[in-house]
Amino acid sequence: MSTIRTLRSGWKQISNKARWILLIYMCALVLISGLDGIALFLFSKLGLNIAGELTSDYPSGNLILGIWCIVLFLIRSATALGITWVGCIILAHEETAIGQRNLHTYFNMEWKTRLSEKVSGIYDFVDRGPNSLVQQYILSFATLIAEIFSSLVIFGVILSLNTITALSGFLFFIFVALSQHKVISLSSRRAGLEIAENFTGTYNHLSDAFYLSKLLQITPSLSFSSIILLKRRGLSNARARAVFIESLPRYMMESVLVLGVIVVGVATLVTQGSSAIVPSLAIFALAAFRILPSINRIQGLILGLIGREPIAQMALRSFEVSKPKLIARTTEIQKDFILELKDVFFSYEHSGQPLLSDISFQFRRGLQYAIVGPSGSGKSTLMDICMGLLVPDSGSVSRFFLMQDKIAYSSQETFVVSASLAQNVALEWTDEVIDLECVKWALGLSSLEINDLKIQVNQNSLSGGEKQRLGIARALYRKPTLLFLDEPTSALDTDTELDVMKSINELRGKTTVLIASHKLSTIKHADVIIYIENGAIKGSGSLTEVQALMPDFDEHI
Ligand SMILES: Nc1ncnc2c1ncn2[C@@H]1O[C@H](COP(=O)(O)OP(=O)(O)O)[C@@H](O)[C@H]1O
Ligand SMILES: [Mg+2]
Repeated sequence: MSTIRTLRSGWKQISNKARWILLIYMCALVLISGLDGIALFLFSKLGLNIAGELTSDYPSGNLILGIWCIVLFLIRSATALGITWVGCIILAHEETAIGQRNLHTYFNMEWKTRLSEKVSGIYDFVDRGPNSLVQQYILSFATLIAEIFSSLVIFGVILSLNTITALSGFLFFIFVALSQHKVISLSSRRAGLEIAENFTGTYNHLSDAFYLSKLLQITPSLSFSSIILLKRRGLSNARARAVFIESLPRYMMESVLVLGVIVVGVATLVTQGSSAIVPSLAIFALAAFRILPSINRIQGLILGLIGREPIAQMALRSFEVSKPKLIARTTEIQKDFILELKDVFFSYEHSGQPLLSDISFQFRRGLQYAIVGPSGSGKSTLMDICMGLLVPDSGSVSRFFLMQDKIAYSSQETFVVSASLAQNVALEWTDEVIDLECVKWALGLSSLEINDLKIQVNQNSLSGGEKQRLGIARALYRKPTLLFLDEPTSALDTDTELDVMKSINELRGKTTVLIASHKLSTIKHADVIIYIENGAIKGSGSLTEVQALMPDFDEHI
């Protein structure tokens, strides 16, 4: 039943054009099977003629019949190949479109949901799921429908040749196929589920292996490679089982063919007498030759649909895409402010203790704010709320944005993508859209003096301090009016920190800056210091005011 549900959801995902192509594809395959039927009919006539050849006066007629048979079979195969090719290409476009839509959904997914996502989630949702859904699932279904029609056509032809043989043979094969299906389909579904589960596990572990490679090289883990082995073994075994299960019907059917000979022989003997046995068995052999592969294919396709369903499902996950209501109407009074938090409460788990409680604050345009407090007090979480990534459980966040306002962010850890330095700063992958002058300007302000903008960098080729400066350059490149810097100087030496902070301080007046930091040297020039502890604002004001208000302030930073 879930197979049908997945098909229905998949059908809704593809475009109208693709639906039409699939319908044409199915009709073409059915027509092809019509050709098949005619060829088969001629072929059987030829067989019967040759059987009576000794008395026949028209050997040339047989030759023409024979040539027609061959031509029809060849046309059929060529057309089938052509239409399959067109179907595959069109569906490749659909697969890309679904993947792209899913990527968009992924990027707009509620941040809280994204926090619990694993790395394999994006692979499954954007690539593997759509591929399985379209190329393996929907296409297989269309092929299945066409295959059922084809076997009915062939059945019709054989029926016209010999009713009893065709009926008994067909019913026999259907009975065997149904019994087989009952036995095998469960295993097929189980194998499909195992493939999906172990694939996800393997890819999560492999991505961990990639990011931990340096650490694990120095201090090998006792269990890491064996846990990967376990997942991979599970994956390989499940894949092998799926292949085996799909090929099972073929071999089983071939062995029951012998049984079929007995069934048809007995049926003919009982209904038509012993003289009819030989021609009847000849027709049965012909039927088996044409119908068996068809029934095998049908069964293989059904098993494939059942087995691939869990992977196809990965393309159909749905996510909450609720964007927080951030943009507030700008009134005259609010023109001087850019951001306002009112009575904000927040917890990562709804039932748990609030991590942030009763936070209210107004941020004036052009000033520099420092969010200060012990590690784990909620500084980064507060920033995520201000940026609109996390939605408060209660209270409101308002952003008084004007047309020209832009937001940028530099996170606590900077991830370097495997691309050129300029591409890394702009976070653009095609050079035409990169403003190189702006890249140079941003790198200068963040004191990352690498002159060759085209130099290829990656996560392992920059030092911690360089990564951090790259992160700041990325944010500055966007020329923001609201800039969030989360621990921007934690990996910088005193001199570099001084240079970077000088640049940040020069943004005063044009850019509202929110810095979360532990370091006094980073926050000492801030206009307003917000001291938070245990998720609540304990004090705010200038450095001297906060120091006076909180006697143990210096201990915490
Ligand atoms: N995604 C998350 N799910 C659950 N708890 C989290 C998550 N992110 C952070 N926390 C918890 O919230 C608390 C505050 O984290 P954070 O805002 O990063 O603190 P800070 O930036 O002040 O060091 C920490 O105890 C942390 O473990
Ligand atoms: Mg933090």
